[in-house]
Amino acid sequence: MIGACSIALHISQAQTKTNTQDAKMNAFVSSLMQKMTVEEKIGQLNLVTPGGTVTGSVVSKDVDSKIRNGQVGSLFGITGPDKIRKAQEIAVNNSRLHIPLIFGLDVIHGHRTIFPIPLGLSCSWNMDMIEKSAEIAASEATADGLSWVYSPMVDIARDPRWGRVSEGSGEDTYLGCQVAKAMVKGYQGSSYSDPTKVMACVKHFALYGAAEAGRDYNTTDMSRIKMYEYYLPPYKAAVDAGVGSVMSSFNEVDGVPATANKWLMTDLLRKQWGFKGFVVTDYTAINEMIDHGLGDLQRVSAEALKAGIDMDMVGEGFLTTLQKSLKEGKVTVAQINAACKRVLEAKYKLGLFDDPYRYCNEQRFNNAILTDANRAAAREFAAKSMVLLKNNNNVLPLQKGKTIALVGPLADNKRNMLGTWSVSGDPEKSITVLQGLKNVAGSDANIIYARGCNISDDTAFAKKVNAFGKEIEIDTRSPQQMIDEAVVAASKADVIVAVLGEAADMTGESSSMSDIGLQKSQKALLDELKRTGKPIVIVLLNGRPMTLTWEDQNADAILDAWFSGTEAGNAIADVLFGNYNPSGKLTMSFPRNVGQIPIYYNHKNTGRPYSGVGAGKFRSNYLDVSNDPLYPFGFGLSYTSFTYSNVTVSSPTIKQGQKITASVTVTNSGKFDGTETVQLYIRDLVGTVTRPVKELKGYQQITLKAGESRKVDFTISVDDLKFYNTDLKRVAEPGDFKVFIGTNSRDVKEADFKLVQ
Ligand code: BGC
Repeated sequence: MIGACSIALHISQAQTKTNTQDAKMNAFVSSLMQKMTVEEKIGQLNLVTPGGTVTGSVVSKDVDSKIRNGQVGSLFGITGPDKIRKAQEIAVNNSRLHIPLIFGLDVIHGHRTIFPIPLGLSCSWNMDMIEKSAEIAASEATADGLSWVYSPMVDIARDPRWGRVSEGSGEDTYLGCQVAKAMVKGYQGSSYSDPTKVMACVKHFALYGAAEAGRDYNTTDMSRIKMYEYYLPPYKAAVDAGVGSVMSSFNEVDGVPATANKWLMTDLLRKQWGFKGFVVTDYTAINEMIDHGLGDLQRVSAEALKAGIDMDMVGEGFLTTLQKSLKEGKVTVAQINAACKRVLEAKYKLGLFDDPYRYCNEQRFNNAILTDANRAAAREFAAKSMVLLKNNNNVLPLQKGKTIALVGPLADNKRNMLGTWSVSGDPEKSITVLQGLKNVAGSDANIIYARGCNISDDTAFAKKVNAFGKEIEIDTRSPQQMIDEAVVAASKADVIVAVLGEAADMTGESSSMSDIGLQKSQKALLDELKRTGKPIVIVLLNGRPMTLTWEDQNADAILDAWFSGTEAGNAIADVLFGNYNPSGKLTMSFPRNVGQIPIYYNHKNTGRPYSGVGAGKFRSNYLDVSNDPLYPFGFGLSYTSFTYSNVTVSSPTIKQGQKITASVTVTNSGKFDGTETVQLYIRDLVGTVTRPVKELKGYQQITLKAGESRKVDFTISVDDLKFYNTDLKRVAEPGDFKVFIGTNSRDVKEADFKLVQ
């Protein structure tokens, strides 16, 4: 009783504190707004970039004079306390009302110390680690003058042709929500008024990951149930975690581009979800609505404002047309005021009105970036993100004292270690696999290196991929010459380690691919290596699930290392030599071929369910390939093995207000200590709407010594059984359920229970 009272007291004290803070902020912002002209208010809605690594064809002009004239609210694309101070000084000293700017940037998977790409990080299934990665990124970003990051990207995606799968957390909603929460917490801490924390920006709201045919910026269309059930929850999780800003997406939602979609931006985001921060568009997303077919710049800008957009990224539609629209009665002062207020509130919360230079700390700039501790964290996070896809005859871990033929275009390649969206990462600071193997193995291994092939031999393709720098370098040696060198190296070795995959920007924005296998040049190399008869270990660097059917049949081991960042080489070597026993699990299914896409584990059963490879006609299947992915969601091997007991449930029935426990005993039945992610899935067998064959509802990561066993309990509540019905209400319906527990979404054991009234 005493405990409950004192908790209640704390809550009410905290509430009073928040109310007082809010009242102070409101008073400050409204007194400032009383002094502002409409032009100055519109100026606050303008986000500019003077250039740098940008993703659109337009960059802002006359930035300095616009800041002076009060026509800029925020700026992105520059870093460094010196540069940022100079720009801030123009706003604070030379604009009429001295309103400071917010400085933003794409800080996506680390800032200067680069961590694995987000898809890789998600494969760790380790939320503490993911939160820590965002916390370190925030610390480096703020030391570099920034206060706002365009992350987390939480777009659910079921199509690996879409290059931006590398920036997200895969196909699963439950996991996506956990990651969204962890990232926001890591970036913002308990309050982004702390000058080592940043304001996060969840993106791309909404459904950007569902682009048809996996082609970036393409049309998206789906039912409300699918939106609510699978695609929207991660954005909501970020909102619930207190994210300060939201970025609108390029695509349409239900026929109306997200950036002019009032239902999305106002009814759902603000009214239903209670979002209090501001919404920024994606890069020139307002202007792009002209091409979407919504009208001229004046019209689309007015539609965006009316829908609930507060800030216009780079396109200057707001800056150049809103006054005219106001005069013509197409928008109201109240709408402009509402947007301006939200932007000023963000500045207030960031503490910029107290000290506009609080992120310009030279000492932190010199001491908090790319520190040994941050690099050590990058190495650890990278190792934890890697997924062992195959390991025949325990070819891995590599044994000491052997000769290794290290081949492949990514084996000694600094340029591609960091992965896409690492705009502030310096590739020169990254560790290649060759360097990493030498660092870790020292004199314990004899390494013979040969490049073996180009990432691709196709010059036209290379030109497109190389938009941000020479990621695909075409060697002056002929392809055959390079292969021959690799074969010579292989013939002298005990084992081949082939580092293959994609160039960093073969994934990321505007990097859709219709063929997601290895490039021909790399396949040709593998083919020749196979003929040597030596064991082949493929280390794959990639930003998407790839089609690896041949590789799965012919290689002895495959380690998916993703693009794992600044410390990639060291971390890969740690895993190859067994200093870290791989524990990553896939968060996106790997298809057997492109024709199977979209492919995801939580699909529906259909009225003619697939019944295995041998099934004939008139089932929902293909004639030429199985329905199953090559590597399912949740899959990942270890150097040890884990065996699962049968699943038990504490009660065969569950009722509203009750909980049951599903349990399993996991044994480390191999020779190494290891970490296993024990996964819980549920299936609702009967409902008023069709339900997926399986849905992730929980997981636990346990570390077991060789030979050790542990009982793992999962609590299931009625809330875990809820879904959106046709009225878009979240309900749990009585009936039969199955609970599955296992090492991945395919290899599970099951038990039954009932939800009773
Ligand atoms: C991308 C966003 C990014 C923005 C700013 C856009 O093209 O879609 O993810 O944050 O550019 O760089």
